[in-house]
Amino acid sequence: MSSSNPLRDAADRRLPRIAGPSGLVIFGVTGDLSRKKLMPAVYDLANRGLLPPGFSLIGFARRDWEDEDFAQVVHDSVKEHARTPFREEVWQQLIQGMRFVQGDFDDDAAFATLKSTIEELDKQQGTGGNFAFYLSVPPKFFPKVVQQLKKHGLADQKDGSWRRAVIEKPFGHDLKSAQELNQVVHEVFPPNEVFRIDHYLGKETVQNILALRFANTLFEPIWNRSYVDHVQITMAEDIGIGGRAGYYDGIGAARDVIQNHLLQLLALTAMEEPASFDAHALVAEKTKVLGAVRLPKDLGKETVRGQYAAGWQGGEQAVGYLQEDGIDPKSTTDTYAAVRLEIDNRRWAGVPFYLRTGKRLGRRVTEIAVVFQRAPHSPFDHTATEELGQNAIVIRVQPDEGITMRFGSKVPGTSMEIRDVSMDFAYGESFTESSPEAYERLILDVLLGDSNLFPRLEEVEQSWRILDPIEEYWDTHGKPAQYESGTWGPAEADEMLAREGRSWRRP
Ligand SMILES: NC(=O)c1ccc[n+]([C@@H]2O[C@H](COP(=O)([O-])OP(=O)(O)OC[C@H]3O[C@@H](n4cnc5c(N)ncnc54)[C@H](OP(=O)(O)O)[C@@H]3O)[C@@H](O)[C@H]2O)c1
Repeated sequence: MSSSNPLRDAADRRLPRIAGPSGLVIFGVTGDLSRKKLMPAVYDLANRGLLPPGFSLIGFARRDWEDEDFAQVVHDSVKEHARTPFREEVWQQLIQGMRFVQGDFDDDAAFATLKSTIEELDKQQGTGGNFAFYLSVPPKFFPKVVQQLKKHGLADQKDGSWRRAVIEKPFGHDLKSAQELNQVVHEVFPPNEVFRIDHYLGKETVQNILALRFANTLFEPIWNRSYVDHVQITMAEDIGIGGRAGYYDGIGAARDVIQNHLLQLLALTAMEEPASFDAHALVAEKTKVLGAVRLPKDLGKETVRGQYAAGWQGGEQAVGYLQEDGIDPKSTTDTYAAVRLEIDNRRWAGVPFYLRTGKRLGRRVTEIAVVFQRAPHSPFDHTATEELGQNAIVIRVQPDEGITMRFGSKVPGTSMEIRDVSMDFAYGESFTESSPEAYERLILDVLLGDSNLFPRLEEVEQSWRILDPIEEYWDTHGKPAQYESGTWGPAEADEMLAREGRSWRRP
């Protein structure tokens, strides 16, 4: 929130947000997420001078490693995946606070070692007792790890210090399990010390939705049912499940992506302006709009699930989902999901929001397309506007981050012919600084105790309220439609829009 002193506000904007004395414990530190995203993000923050000098990083996993082995793994992961250049002096400082604790989540002795390691780092590194526990572990272990933290007094906040829990997605498997997990977590950590990760909210392009809508006068007057025909929110991946069969099978695309990332994008696109940008005001508006989402009346017609079959992708042959290693050949898990939702409020009544996600689609792309109605009257000959589509504002979340506006323009020549053209804003052209990775921003916010970019339980509950009936319907009705790898999903998804005279974008 801004202060009432304009001089201080001016200074605040220029001051980088630097974390105070603190440390981070990563459970599951040998995992994929930790190696590719978390460890590099810690280094990038240190390199940008945003971590305190005595910052400490403790890794916890079952491998028989010494501190030196752990440091080597962090080093390799930083060299391979960090965003900013490697600087020896930054590394040498970071390594001072690096420790590894070996153990299983059941192992009381390991948690006792973790406790003494934290106490030792408090003395040596001046971490002040402030530690965040990052649960980068398979979701079934979330309750166990949290309970162990309580049992060993690791969640106790003493003498003004803080202890925080960072919980990876998915937060629950449905509404009931999300509420149960929440109960376990809140028995140990107070609500304001719990940070649920939806890394999409850490992306610059996602935060920019708020800037686009609420810092400008150009867009908000037309951001409603009077002008918008429909909204398409897409997260398409070109890869298959890779080595993540154990995680993915039984979860599927809708739980993995729609429940969190896509419904968060919907909330930011559709919500009313918050009274301020503090966490409470934002959560209030996001929860309100998610609460106004109406479930499809006809789940058979307004939802589609699919499963990738063999095909060609990027010049290579790809196997179908049911042939992937570790997948039950009779699996009915969705690798593609599309839903049509409406929002029952004055701004959006009657405007469809089409959400889709899938693996092994034509291209890797995440975007929000706000598609506008056609002009109510055209003074031009029919032939002049044959090639004119609908106006659109497309927020390109990733890759090729930016915003495109599409509108009609006269084709140069002696006759009146109107065709679609695009006006582009690209991050790479407008700004010299590269965007921080989402995990950099989120880890820094955890250390600062800033919860704006973390979904609250109310939002998670609303998302499961939307998804649960869809999953239940799918469980009892048929199988996912097959689609060829490298295409844009099952024909049923195209039919869903064609019935309403619309079509999916082919980004
Ligand atoms: N990978 C991604 O890109 C991604 C994206 C979004 C969310 N997530 C979420 O992030 C979390 C981690 O994902 P991940 O892909 O990194 O998982 P992962 O590669 O399967 O890693 C799991 C980690 O948990 C540890 N572990 C498992 N069982 C243990 C036990 N009984 N005791 C102690 N340690 C144990 C493993 O350590 P050992 O070395 O001891 O086996 C390993 O470090 C999950 O909640 C996932 O849903 C991941």
